[in-house]
Amino acid sequence: MVAHNQVVLPSPTGIYAHIVGWGMAVPDTVLTNQELEAIVETSDEWIRTRTGIAERRIAGERESTASLGLKAGRRALEVADVLPTDIDLIIVATSTPENIFPSTASLIQNWLGATKAGAFDLSAACSGFVYAVDMAAQSIRSGSIKVAVVIGAETMSRVMDWQDRGTCILFGDGAGAVVLKASEVEGGVLSAVLRSDGSGSDLLGIPTVGSGDLRNPDFATNGHKMHKMHMNGGEVFKFATRVIGESITQALDKANLNIEDVSLIVPHQANLRIIQAAARSLKVEPELFMSNVDRYGNTSAASIPIALCEAVQQGRIKPDDNIAFIGFGGGLTWASMVVKWTGSKVLERSNGGILRPQRRQFSYLLARWRANLRRFSKFLERVRPNRGRILRLRDKLDQLD
Ligand code: UT7
Repeated sequence: MVAHNQVVLPSPTGIYAHIVGWGMAVPDTVLTNQELEAIVETSDEWIRTRTGIAERRIAGERESTASLGLKAGRRALEVADVLPTDIDLIIVATSTPENIFPSTASLIQNWLGATKAGAFDLSAACSGFVYAVDMAAQSIRSGSIKVAVVIGAETMSRVMDWQDRGTCILFGDGAGAVVLKASEVEGGVLSAVLRSDGSGSDLLGIPTVGSGDLRNPDFATNGHKMHKMHMNGGEVFKFATRVIGESITQALDKANLNIEDVSLIVPHQANLRIIQAAARSLKVEPELFMSNVDRYGNTSAASIPIALCEAVQQGRIKPDDNIAFIGFGGGLTWASMVVKWTGSKVLERSNGGILRPQRRQFSYLLARWRANLRRFSKFLERVRPNRGRILRLRDKLDQLD
């Protein structure tokens, strides 16, 4: 174990990446364990005792990964008091993107009116949020960008095999987001450890276009259903309980901190028993871990930012606290991170400026007008040639007379 040390390791550029905004969005529709009893052979008692889950949220017809991500992102911008036009980068961690491309991040970039931002999706399953925050923090610390929005958003209900009781009882829909900002104030993201073991790729996944030989779907997907999630629960459980403690310890070592310096661990919400096993392996009380798996189930890349938002709401995180994130899942991938919490009021506001909430609303409105205008001009482009063809056809008919 390294020496107890609260001093923040210096950033080579003198720039630190702080989390200054956070937001979450979950669908209104609740699916309880009792309701699941009518769908697959299961019981409320089994689900509660084996997973700790009581209910999960399910996206409505008009909701999607991007719409949930957009809501969470807007809320995070409010907390951070950042204008969409100040955003340099948007990363959406998701396993349920709207499309293979365009990215869900690009859709959200457009809806926010983040006209100066780059945008891309990141695929690292349930570890995706931690991976994405690290990518954004690295970009900020290098001095290449100043403001990033990282969103974890999922509609897992759309990739569930609703006949597979081993998976469909576990997952739910939702989104969470954070805003990261550059500052010379020490703190923010202190360290991260990202790992992958692709030899476990068949334990957990969603086969999709590009899976091997598509003319032979069984071969391509190794017997798994196309576009549906499959999981070897027992093996993933063993993997998760093995890596969590090890990974958090590595991230703490990198930040020159001990577990005693950590006031809260926000883990991926997969199963309460996994969280309890991780607490045992780290020799800490289970209360050191944030858990809301009982109300949302496993929302994959969205679970850490959703749990983070609720931890802040509950007053479990204060400025200058050291907190840790740990994600694990498909890939196999896992990732942990240590953050010195900043809060929303600590950094000086850039661009000073008044009427910022109104300017944010105006940016969203402008983005909608821009999108409608584009759609209308595309419509005109489509209509005009048709009109030309109709006129040419009429000319030909005229010539026949
Ligand atoms: O986000 C990515 C990371 N994902 C995870 O971390 C998930 C990790 N895995 C798990 O959380 C657990 O393995 C599960 C919750 C998926 C399963 O719990 P388990 O304690 O490992 O149960 P099991 O798969 O060993 O199954 C025990 C029994 C089996 O019956 P038999 O063979 O003992 O007669 C299953 O068929 O429970 C049965 N079972 C169910 N019974 C009622 C499996 N699913 C259900 C169900 N309801 N939904």
